[in-house]
Amino acid sequence: MPRPTRPLEPDPLELEAQTRTVADFVIAHVASLGEQPSFDLVGAEELRASLREGVPETGRPLDAVLERLRPAIAKSYNTAGPGYLAYIPGGGVYASALADFVATATNRYVGVAGAAPALAQIEETAVGWLCTLMGLPSGSRGILTSGGSLSNFSALVTAREERLGEDFRDGAIYLSEETHHCVAKAARLAGFPRSSLRTLPTDERFRLVPAALEQAIREDRARGRRPFLVVANVGTTNTGAVDPLPEVLRIARAHGLWVHADAAYGGFFRLAPGGEALLRGIEECDSVTLDPHKGLFLPYGLGALLVRDGSALVRAHRESASYVQDVAEEGSLGFADLSPELSRDFRGLRLWLPLMLHGVAAFREQLGEKLALARWAYERLRDDPRFEMLDEPQLSVAAFRLRAPAEEADRLGPELLRRVNARRRVFLSSTRVGGRYALRICVLSFRTHEDRVRDAVLALKEEAGALLG
Ligand SMILES: Cc1ncc(COP(=O)(O)O)c(C=O)c1O
Repeated sequence: MPRPTRPLEPDPLELEAQTRTVADFVIAHVASLGEQPSFDLVGAEELRASLREGVPETGRPLDAVLERLRPAIAKSYNTAGPGYLAYIPGGGVYASALADFVATATNRYVGVAGAAPALAQIEETAVGWLCTLMGLPSGSRGILTSGGSLSNFSALVTAREERLGEDFRDGAIYLSEETHHCVAKAARLAGFPRSSLRTLPTDERFRLVPAALEQAIREDRARGRRPFLVVANVGTTNTGAVDPLPEVLRIARAHGLWVHADAAYGGFFRLAPGGEALLRGIEECDSVTLDPHKGLFLPYGLGALLVRDGSALVRAHRESASYVQDVAEEGSLGFADLSPELSRDFRGLRLWLPLMLHGVAAFREQLGEKLALARWAYERLRDDPRFEMLDEPQLSVAAFRLRAPAEEADRLGPELLRRVNARRRVFLSSTRVGGRYALRICVLSFRTHEDRVRDAVLALKEEAGALLG
């Protein structure tokens, strides 16, 4: 027998030293987030090229490895910083990093309930909190996913199983022209032909038009299609529009459709003061997608799907096999019974720990501030004749363009974005709405406060002045 060596088992002293090294590295980074530029891609391609390398045969010291990582982190969008107002910001509450550390260091198996019953309960409890926060009744169940796209996929499959059965290609799915493209992707992955998607028009505030929904359902029925699902937006990515849930629910109920709320961006605003009225109807939906890595400010990699009738989620996902018979007891449900995954990280801890540590009140307060900041930015830009606002913020997005003839506004918009971002204090992104170029400020980081939104508005005003004269 060869003498055992243990290259992968550092002793406790070494573990401590390694952990301190990593903690110092991370703390220095997090503590300086506010001073770091809002993005920095100078030299990123060269750096990237330098990281295309072969597999190392022998190990290197941790400090040296972290030094390779340091510039790779720096040369990127500062998505965790206070100036990140692009796309849908997340933030990265630190408690989730601690949770991930504990979860991966202890490496317990949570895919089936029997393998770590109390840990599985922690995750189930955290998911139950989400159901409660969304106003869903007892009997609802959920699952944590890697993000909103996967949640929407599982929701679509669940609705398909419940309403159509195995022969489903004649099913029809209703969504609006502002619905996130991951819903179309989910439909494709779930086996639906393109023709199953009915993309409906929106009103002047980018919300689905209920009358158009009703008419499309009737037309499809008359053509022999089977309408079964409407995906309502609770905060669109472009402008943060919230579809009229009560009317959508009424129509869907009358025609026997499943209502799924894509609340990946907007759902957590229900926690903010006045949020229940703002998102009225979400508590009546059949399923709800949430992204804690957006509206709860957690690090990327955490989505959730909540289903009103939890047993539907089970019916859509449960399979069994003899090799899990020891741990998958009759009658007990594991996460594998509710989702496409079996082995996976103990992701429940990254939701549970921040809520335990800070309490939901801290999140309510932060979400309220984000709504107020978006409105603050909106009002400043609205009162400036050089800007045309696309809509009053329904949540925390202010979308706008330069007030100029269409062609000129579309031509100057990208230059305005480039100039504002080049100041490196904030980072904004653009989109197209109704075929026209638009800029957006999306306030959704717990690190973003009035000073940074003020910087964004000031930069926009100064650069718009320089461009329009
Ligand atoms: C409204 C909406 N739905 C779904 C998604 C997809 O979520 P994820 O990126 O977590 O997969 C997004 C992402 O921005 C979104 O804004």
